[in-house]
Amino acid sequence: MRRLAGKTALITGAARGIGLAFAKAYVAEGANVVLADVDIETATAEATAIGSAAHAVRMDVTDQASIDAGIAEAVAAFGQLDILINNAAIFTAAPITEISRDDFARVFSINVSGTLFTLQAAARQMIAQGQGGRIINMASQAGRRGEPLVAVYCASKAAVISLTQSAGLNLIEHGINVNAIAPGVVDGAHWDGVDAFFAKYEGKAPGQKKAEVAAAVPHGRMGRAGDLTGMAVFLASDEADYIVAQTYNVDGGNWMS
Ligand SMILES: NC(=O)c1ccc[n+]([C@@H]2O[C@H](COP(=O)([O-])OP(=O)(O)OC[C@H]3O[C@@H](n4cnc5c(N)ncnc54)[C@H](O)[C@@H]3O)[C@@H](O)[C@H]2O)c1
Repeated sequence: MRRLAGKTALITGAARGIGLAFAKAYVAEGANVVLADVDIETATAEATAIGSAAHAVRMDVTDQASIDAGIAEAVAAFGQLDILINNAAIFTAAPITEISRDDFARVFSINVSGTLFTLQAAARQMIAQGQGGRIINMASQAGRRGEPLVAVYCASKAAVISLTQSAGLNLIEHGINVNAIAPGVVDGAHWDGVDAFFAKYEGKAPGQKKAEVAAAVPHGRMGRAGDLTGMAVFLASDEADYIVAQTYNVDGGNWMS
């Protein structure tokens, strides 16, 4: 028996990277998956490649009407919503003296408000269905500890861990388990962007920061999106029924808590 047979999942930021890997893993476990992303062209191409168990919707998690429409479209496409992965996020970096209000607001509107209000809309749908549900938020090792050049992103991911705790405690009475995954350093387009920030602020050559963080991971290499799919499937499965309000590190040993 596939572990997510008969379930419908909506994954934000699923056009590429970790979210796309989650979508493919969920379909392999029998779920129907809605790939929700601002990049609808790529999300549509990926959903088409996955097949009839996947459906793409344009969703901007900073826009309440877009969130509500995306949830409604998921239900229209597959009849229900059982699982949400709050995966969409952006990275930013700057010394404290150079952080702008605009950049802070942009990051928090996606990483924090986007997580909270997508979670809220999904929870309302799950409560109306009356059969519980699963919500997985994407945190980060950046939410465990501040970093000198990464104040805003670190704070946003600390907020995701805190929201996971509060929402987890509040929603379990409806049979909705809210938990989070904290990745470490995962190779892909996101980390290409991180590397570029460090090239700018630390004068490193392109690729140098990536090589340094990879060498520092106890496991011995950067993570890959596929390293995270096992935890994402497990947290959505029946086996995780007694797990509430937790954040799990999946990071090759970078952080211990
Ligand atoms: N890659 C890493 O090293 C790493 C480490 C720790 C945590 N994470 C977290 O894992 C998650 C996925 O990371 P990734 O590396 O796959 O990122 P990514 O940048 O490759 O993908 C993010 C996706 O989110 C989408 N997106 C951006 N703004 C959006 C919005 N307003 N509404 C909807 N979609 C939007 C993008 O179009 C993109 O498809 C993020 O929450 C990230 O913070 C990543």
